[in-house]
Amino acid sequence: MKESFVVEGLGGKRTLVGEIPVRGSKNAVLPAMASSIIFNAPLRLTNVPDIEDVYRMSELLEHLGAKTEKVKKREYVINGHDIKDSVMDEVLSKKMRASIILSGPLLARFKKVTFPHPGGCVIGARPIDLFLSGFEKMGATVDEKKESFVISAPKGLRGANIFFAIPSVTASETFIMAGVLAKGTTFLKNVALEPEITALAEFLVSCGAKIKGIGTPVLEITGTNGKLLTPKIYKTIPDRLETGSFLILAALAGKDVTITHCHPEHIEALTDLLISSGVSIEIAKSSIRVKHTEKSKLKAFNIKTHEYPGFPTDVQAPTVVYLTQVKGESFVFETIFEGRLQFTQDLVKMGADIKLWDAHRATIQGPTPLKGREVEGPDIRAGLALLVAAIIAKGTSTINSIYYIDRGYERIEERFSALGVDIKRVSGE
Ligand code: EPU
Repeated sequence: MKESFVVEGLGGKRTLVGEIPVRGSKNAVLPAMASSIIFNAPLRLTNVPDIEDVYRMSELLEHLGAKTEKVKKREYVINGHDIKDSVMDEVLSKKMRASIILSGPLLARFKKVTFPHPGGCVIGARPIDLFLSGFEKMGATVDEKKESFVISAPKGLRGANIFFAIPSVTASETFIMAGVLAKGTTFLKNVALEPEITALAEFLVSCGAKIKGIGTPVLEITGTNGKLLTPKIYKTIPDRLETGSFLILAALAGKDVTITHCHPEHIEALTDLLISSGVSIEIAKSSIRVKHTEKSKLKAFNIKTHEYPGFPTDVQAPTVVYLTQVKGESFVFETIFEGRLQFTQDLVKMGADIKLWDAHRATIQGPTPLKGREVEGPDIRAGLALLVAAIIAKGTSTINSIYYIDRGYERIEERFSALGVDIKRVSGE
């Protein structure tokens, strides 16, 4: 059944008030769920967001033979030790690119893994060359079949020196888990620095893994030669990307909004720009308060997406919405994914003045009032950005394809309604 959000826009008024708690990070909990494969007992995960991608990862693990149980609100127990099979389900795997994270722990434990090509998606081509060459360096052979990859390492994975040509988030996580179970020492170089990777590595160390250099681009991992780890309880860190999206909403439509249960230091790339743009922001230890700022005082700025701690590609889309509302010209350079500016077509339909130079670069002239329209949510982050646009626009908007928003944001309509947004989830045919 297709669902949409119908939003009655505020027409530029800043009326939202209250607190909005940030849920656990999607991109942290997915690799943590995958790590259940390298444990000798059930893994308990807390602060798990209630989102579609978590359900997809549970289904993937269950298909492999794991038992996953939601024991209470936002708490899961996953028995990955029960897994007997390392052939990943093709349909489920293709629904979520992050399924690729399972390849590392499965190969390390079962000496073989079969997974389909995850394919490109609307945000870009998303190749997997770093995964394939990394597995080969660890002693595996890669057999590319028509529909799938079969990776085998009959003698088990061995430690290797792996330099990532690009600091990939999921490749870093995959090879951390592979290295932990391998024989000998693995050096991972040019590792991505996103907090979700640090959270995974620190958690594995708390369970007995030997990883040096956490939080730096070079990791040294001493493998257990196949011995499984004993799990501790995993607590999911707050979602910095959700925090960022809420900050933009508060800056554009807030009278007085406090974003709670977050790690402000993880989203400094955005708060720093918003403060210099003129937004009134008070940062505390685990909350950020955004107070009403006269819209006419807000200034434009340029963004260039970058690996952490630079400006996150996942917050680019909502920030573009912000830039349509402030005075001046801004330039956006999306360096990570080639499909992530496409959604600006919908913003233009709503009244924004955006010139797309090529797949990676856009210029925005602001401010332009936005008008309610029917738009598609093409991916998780652009979907949320269009929702923010609908909230500030004049008139009624319909956002279709909200499955994407549900993939990454827990029951967003309830949480935005609590701040005063007029939003309804409606079912189509
Ligand atoms: N890349 C390659 N070869 C590879 C792997 C990646 O060329 O083998 C390239 C990608 O095409 C891209 C760059 O490396 O240009 C960086 O991509 P990365 O691999 O870091 O992305 P990812 O690991 O697939 C994660 C997040 C994304 C987030 C990106 C960038 C998860 C589950 N996903 O993806 O999150 O946008 O890092 O920070 O952690 C989202 O949450 O909506 C989302 C898409």
